[in-house]
Amino acid sequence: MKIAVSGKGGVGKTFIAGGLAKGFASRGLKTIAIDADSSPNLAMTLGLKAEEARKILPITENKELVDSKTSTGYSGVYRLSFTVDDIVKQYSVPTPLGVNLIVMGTVQSMGAGCMCAPNAVVRALLRHLIVEVNEAVVMDLEAGVEHIGRATARQVDALLIVADSNLKSLEIAKHIYDMATVAGMKKLYLIGNRVMNDTQKEAIQNFAEKNGLPLLEFVPFDQHVIDADMRGETPLLHTEILSVQTIDNICETLIQKLKVP
Ligand SMILES: Nc1ncnc2c1ncn2[C@@H]1O[C@H](COP(=O)(O)OP(=O)(O)OP(=O)(O)O)[C@@H](O)[C@H]1O
Ligand SMILES: [Mg+2]
Repeated sequence: MKIAVSGKGGVGKTFIAGGLAKGFASRGLKTIAIDADSSPNLAMTLGLKAEEARKILPITENKELVDSKTSTGYSGVYRLSFTVDDIVKQYSVPTPLGVNLIVMGTVQSMGAGCMCAPNAVVRALLRHLIVEVNEAVVMDLEAGVEHIGRATARQVDALLIVADSNLKSLEIAKHIYDMATVAGMKKLYLIGNRVMNDTQKEAIQNFAEKNGLPLLEFVPFDQHVIDADMRGETPLLHTEILSVQTIDNICETLIQKLKVP
């Protein structure tokens, strides 16, 4: 089960990705959460405290690790082939919600200085996690559409696209959907988040129908989510909250939909 969560900035990707990872782990699946956002903040949603989250060194910033994998001893020349399975064991961080977290760090595009070696490590690691590892993987993607073009993001079993009733977030959802479709991704689902009333629900539903986006679920607006985030706590421990329950139900739906026959 390899899931990626995408969408416009601030629509609730991290909340939903964290909730799905927690849901898979609580169903007994060994689960890895990947924070693939260059401004990472999945750690706190998975129950780590701010000071613990701050201590996590992203893979791309771990010079020692990157050097140990890629260095040839010649400056500007780095190794292309190396093993990464040990990185998962050594650098994934256990979290209170039973999920192991890997923080990737900033992946620069080509030509942006000397980022080639860290990029190579992240690419190999993502490939390993998505293609080779026999565990549930939930990836919290960077806002926007840029990552969809990357080969690794394309190999997930399902891409979830989060939007709320704001037309701008729906337009970006459509853009992501179109790009992912062109890239050959088959299982794409829209999640309507932060839904406050029927008018917002209808706005999302109408947009989805008009543009052919398969709508998976609505996650209701919950003030508790905002309050917990304000206190620096994870909202996901509040299993009495409807939005948390709804995300947990999405796990069940995904397990059914993605089941190998
Ligand atoms: N269902 C919901 N009800 C109420 N508030 C929500 C809900 N989902 C998310 N939020 C709030 O919306 C804000 C953004 O959520 P989150 O950080 O998950 O979004 P994001 O898409 O990951 O943002 P970014 O693009 O910055 O990474 C947070 O303050 C969060 O508490
Ligand atoms: Mg986020």
